[in-house]
Amino acid sequence: MPSTLTQAAIDDPALRAAYTHCRRTARREDPVEYSIMQLMPPVLRPACWAMWAAFNAADDAADTEAETHAARAARLKAWTDALESELPAGHSNDPIRSALIDTMRRWRLDLADLQLSFTTLDGDARGRRLQTWDQWSTWVGDLNLSWAAQTMTLLARAGVPVPLWLRRKDAYQRYLDGLYLTDTLTDLAHDLARDDLILPAEVLDQFPAAADHLQERHWSPAVQDLISHLTAQARRWLDQPGLTGALHPGPAEMLRTATRLFHARLDAVQAAGPALLSRPAVPTPLVRSRILAPARIRAAFAWRLAPLPAAPLTPNYAPALPAPRHHRSSHTPQPAPAHPSGARPPAIAAGRMPRHVAVIMDGNGRWATQRGLPRHEGHRIGADAATREVIYGAAEIGLSHLSLYAFSTENWKRDTQEITCLFENLSEQLRDDFVTSDSLGMRIRWAGRTDGLPEDLVEDLLQAEQATRHRTGLTLTLCVNYGGRAELTQAAAHLARAATTGALNPDHMTEADLARHLLWPDTPDVDLLWRTGGERRISNFLLWQAAYAEIHFTDTYWPDVDRRDLWQAITEYSTRQRRHGAAPTPAHDHPRPNMHRIQAMR
Ligand code: IPE
Ligand code: IPE
Ligand code: MG
Repeated sequence: MPSTLTQAAIDDPALRAAYTHCRRTARREDPVEYSIMQLMPPVLRPACWAMWAAFNAADDAADTEAETHAARAARLKAWTDALESELPAGHSNDPIRSALIDTMRRWRLDLADLQLSFTTLDGDARGRRLQTWDQWSTWVGDLNLSWAAQTMTLLARAGVPVPLWLRRKDAYQRYLDGLYLTDTLTDLAHDLARDDLILPAEVLDQFPAAADHLQERHWSPAVQDLISHLTAQARRWLDQPGLTGALHPGPAEMLRTATRLFHARLDAVQAAGPALLSRPAVPTPLVRSRILAPARIRAAFAWRLAPLPAAPLTPNYAPALPAPRHHRSSHTPQPAPAHPSGARPPAIAAGRMPRHVAVIMDGNGRWATQRGLPRHEGHRIGADAATREVIYGAAEIGLSHLSLYAFSTENWKRDTQEITCLFENLSEQLRDDFVTSDSLGMRIRWAGRTDGLPEDLVEDLLQAEQATRHRTGLTLTLCVNYGGRAELTQAAAHLARAATTGALNPDHMTEADLARHLLWPDTPDVDLLWRTGGERRISNFLLWQAAYAEIHFTDTYWPDVDRRDLWQAITEYSTRQRRHGAAPTPAHDHPRPNMHRIQAMR
């Protein structure tokens, strides 16, 4: 079996040494979290080690006992500044930053997100007084979960979104509270030594004298009662039913294993007795391996069952690095990340490039059924990657308008689970930072009806529109709960109203009058309408706008599509003669398709 580094395509000897350093640091400093990282597929593990070691290094910089808060903050800033300045060159002399930079480039992590996570480490605990568990939860939520959050970003980059925050917000927050309370109990001795044990007054008041006895390291009945109470509380919070439901089986297994390991930590806390006041309580290696051995087998099986859809970029690939936060508002769009094969967009003659391509993304269900998976898995596993691919392809070839049919007014006939899954995917995609970051300069619009859609999704769509409205790159119109007839009916209603008030004379009405009442009147007509998945129909899509569209049908199911299919569609389009009702022009005006190029593209 090749080593993990080899499986992750990390070949450069200096980088291998850097990642190995991170791995050793994580394994030594936190064997439990390290063992959870090892449940990732091999290709993602080195990235997890690098991120863990980076957070640990930044945390150490911020967490040196002897110094003042200002001195610690300055050390943390020096560390993150060094990272920022080394990032463009792509390497660092510091092994942890060197591995982190490589990870960021391979998985397109955003510097701004990482910086945000690092700065939360700066929170100073000393002298803080919190009254309620709610205040405590807000404080720890900001402070302590950056590594877990970045791990989820990494999974999303690899095509496996883990939208716990979105799907089960309250349960997830409580679960995180459970993790952090367990950490607090495990490391009680450490926090007491640094004088930064933080518990809310709400609980300390229930156990009079316990706080003073803790300060004095006195294992009194009050302290024992407090510890039992907190241990029971942490267990309740860790046991959140349904947290892993509908998640990809890999992350679901990781989450379940983390829960078991944290319960084992709490067992160790209960077994420690007075020793808890002088050293951390850790489960024995035997206890750990009883949990981990079967978990490794289940995780490996889960990842084999549903492999990662997206591969890391090749090590030589130099992505467009995110602009540092303070430059963001004024920055110019970056090129989309290249296709892993290195394929480049074809050159399309000026005047032959479509202005607006509209896509009926069909075939997810059949793609899944063919693989023995439920239909919603087709929407989730493959389709996210295909959508991203086509958007990158559109940006790369310089298309100005792309419309994607994501959910039709007729799709309500499907079963609730499938519909819910489609909406959740959409919300995730809208929060994915290839959408939220302005690296592509993409402007997002929504076309469709509000009724029936979950409020969260409507909010996400409107928020995306709002946040991107000044951008000048590709205009991406997401057609969600969209129907061509519904759009025309709505336009007709506007016109009828205008006629009844006398603002419009029906005898003088023009096509332009109706077009003004479409959802996005400034969007050009559809030049090219492309449907994947083998059906030859337009299923109520952009009926007005596609009146003269060139139609392109392909048999590939949507999850198997990539940007080269879009380029092929555009190449073919560029050879068509569009007449709009006129008589044919001489043959030299419509060249034959360059079949050699089209075949070479696939
Ligand atoms: C397209 O895939 C996605 C939506 C309609 C939302 P389908 O789900 O229609 O997939 P097939 O056509 O059943 O294969
Ligand atoms: C069209 O696909 C709608 C979307 C792609 C969102 P459908 O799969 O719903 O179309 P029909 O039912 O086969 O016509
Ligand atoms: Mg379909």
